[in-house]
Amino acid sequence: MPKYRVTFQPMGKTVEADPAAYPYGDHGLPGSLLDIALAFGVPIEHACGGVGACATCHVIVTAGEENLSPPSEEELDQVELAPESSPDSRLACLAVVRGDVTVRIPGWNRNAVSENASP
Ligand code: FES
Repeated sequence: MPKYRVTFQPMGKTVEADPAAYPYGDHGLPGSLLDIALAFGVPIEHACGGVGACATCHVIVTAGEENLSPPSEEELDQVELAPESSPDSRLACLAVVRGDVTVRIPGWNRNAVSENASP
């Protein structure tokens, strides 16, 4: 089974996700952007624990949107509530990675990695 390259901006960190290893942890859907991020040391907020109820895990997809599971109506409703929400926004806990993808973590959602963030 092929592995997927997942890039997190603005850190510019690219990890290689192995679908055969899903789930990595117990945050979000197996193989979700949140599951992968936390497994590789990319801290994304996830106040509700990864059940699609808080929108703190909001990320913006900048490439490879077609390689994510399609959003449900419930996800779209929830992500609209997030600061900086855009048509390319997803909830990291519900977007399952099925190919190469690049996402940007909004500034308000990356306190733990701010030392690596762009100004
Ligand atoms: S962690 Fe709460 S919506 Fe994703």
